[in-house]
Amino acid sequence: MKKKSSYILAIESSCDDTAAAVLKDNEVLSNCIANQQIHQEYGGIVPELASRAHQANIIPVVQKALAIANIDKKELNAIAYTRGPGLIGSLLVGSSFAKSLSMSLDIPLIDVNHMQAHLLCHFIKNDEKKPPKFPFIGVTISGGHTQLILVEDYFKMTEIGTTLDDAIGEAFDKCGKKIGLNYPAGPEIDELASKGNPDAFILPLPKVKNFDVSFSGIKTAFINLLNNKISKDSDFIKNNLNDLCASIQKTLVKIIVQKIEKAQKSLKINIIVIGGGVAANSEIRRVLKDKSETEKWEVFLPKFQYTTDNAAMIGIVGYHRLKENKLGEMNQPVNARLSF
Ligand code: KG4
Ligand code: ZN
Repeated sequence: MKKKSSYILAIESSCDDTAAAVLKDNEVLSNCIANQQIHQEYGGIVPELASRAHQANIIPVVQKALAIANIDKKELNAIAYTRGPGLIGSLLVGSSFAKSLSMSLDIPLIDVNHMQAHLLCHFIKNDEKKPPKFPFIGVTISGGHTQLILVEDYFKMTEIGTTLDDAIGEAFDKCGKKIGLNYPAGPEIDELASKGNPDAFILPLPKVKNFDVSFSGIKTAFINLLNNKISKDSDFIKNNLNDLCASIQKTLVKIIVQKIEKAQKSLKINIIVIGGGVAANSEIRRVLKDKSETEKWEVFLPKFQYTTDNAAMIGIVGYHRLKENKLGEMNQPVNARLSF
């Protein structure tokens, strides 16, 4: 007899996006996001404002996700939510909502690790591509994280490398701020870089042991370069904006790709799975595509809608946890520093 399908409502509120999705098993029926524009004028996320905006957004976003999926809440079989890592106030809004709904509907509650979700988004049903096979090297590149993970099974993940300071997305955003771009600067750097020369300014690559990375030195080198040039030409940034973007982008991408290369060679695993907001970057996509041709890596890049924070990725983890009966507890607190 065919097994009955499960309908899962997933809630994501770890940072500044309030998101809800409905999945039928591993298939996404709806994936809705309310972005918070309020942070732009502050040049970064203001946690207090993020929590308040989540409170205003969460019910309309959930209602929209249910409406698009054409599902009544009584048909749901489980509620999945982000337990961490993230901003504590933001996580509390999503988790409290998820717990209340699971209690009132009397259906299972499933806690999800946001970083696992960034990697497991590749298991969402996709008619164009089969999911990666275990084991693989997972690489999370976002505004808050930069990690290399050995992934042996859905929930058997071991961190093998991390950033010693800033995350790669943070480096994009901080360097962008220095040249007058709005937060988050990553997408704009990407766009301007396409019109610039990536070899115009040579920035030094950090020397970091093992599979760890560091991005703070490159940020300092970039600031020093700007200060030095501006002292001779006050219009330096304006006159060299595209070249500056192309050069910093090339260097940031090189730092992470070198470490992926090192991990690939030492673990002898050639399946590379990328997750997180910076996976949208065209330079990293180009370099990794190149590697898949020249070095026979099997590279998995998320679809654009699953690069930045979204609830569909929380839902796919929820689906696999439900299958393995790994359920959450009502008294489980959120964890801002939840690890793998
Ligand atoms: O995964 P994400 O949405 O949120 C976090 O969990 O951090 O990642 C956001 C980060 C930001 O730092 C943003 O600048 C960066 O992803 N980002 C990009 C691009 N699109 C988003 N960085 C470089 N190039 C892009 N195209
Ligand atoms: Zn994220």
